[in-house]
Amino acid sequence: MSRTAWTGVVVVGSEGHAREAARRIVGAVRDAVEEKGRCCAALSGGSTPEPVYRVMASGEAGELPWERLSFYFADERCVPPEDEASNYRMVVDSLLAGHQEHRSRVHRMQGEAEPQRAAELYQRELPDPLDLVLLGIGQDGHTASLFPGGEAVGEDSRRVVAVRDAPKPPAARLTVTPPVLRDARRLVVLARGRAKADAVAAALAEEGSVHEIPARLARRGLWILDEEAASAIEGSP
Ligand code: 6PG
Repeated sequence: MSRTAWTGVVVVGSEGHAREAARRIVGAVRDAVEEKGRCCAALSGGSTPEPVYRVMASGEAGELPWERLSFYFADERCVPPEDEASNYRMVVDSLLAGHQEHRSRVHRMQGEAEPQRAAELYQRELPDPLDLVLLGIGQDGHTASLFPGGEAVGEDSRRVVAVRDAPKPPAARLTVTPPVLRDARRLVVLARGRAKADAVAAALAEEGSVHEIPARLARRGLWILDEEAASAIEGSP
């Protein structure tokens, strides 16, 4: 069976976005398992991945090799795990729907703990390198909780840090840093909608600064976009 390509841009209609993204992510997981016997994947939060996680949970996009999987997080909001805003909670409700027996495979960031301490603890727990990191992108070009002009996007040694002043609420967050994205074996970025188009185009442009558009850190990844999110990429119809 041919291996999936792990770099480039895939554009799908909005209706089919979650299904196509789920299919490709399940493919990435299977490729990692075939290569190494297991897959350690970091997940993102936000509204774009949630329907993707639901399709993944349903089995429609192919069965996940649950026994070989460990899930981590690319970022978390500093709230308790049962909070509506918790990325962990979103993952439990979507990706683990019907698979609650695999809850122990999901390694959460401790959003309820003192942030510096939580970041240090998670840094010890997070495998290096990750086999797969799933990311989103904000209208301002952020990815994970690496925001334009923020200190975290300039971090070069610590692998997980606390962010105090994120412009996207809540302001207090935990995030992986650029070295984690640089070392990861596969990156997948998901985006939908016209509001993301300029950020996507800037992230994929030949030139630009990661301090201004942190999502450029994932430029080498596989970008799964709907037509609107892809509409400002240079050369797009
Ligand atoms: C978070 C994220 C964040 C997200 C983007 C896109 O927890 O807020 O991980 O980086 O992926 O902000 O979010 P949407 O999909 O909701 O637009």
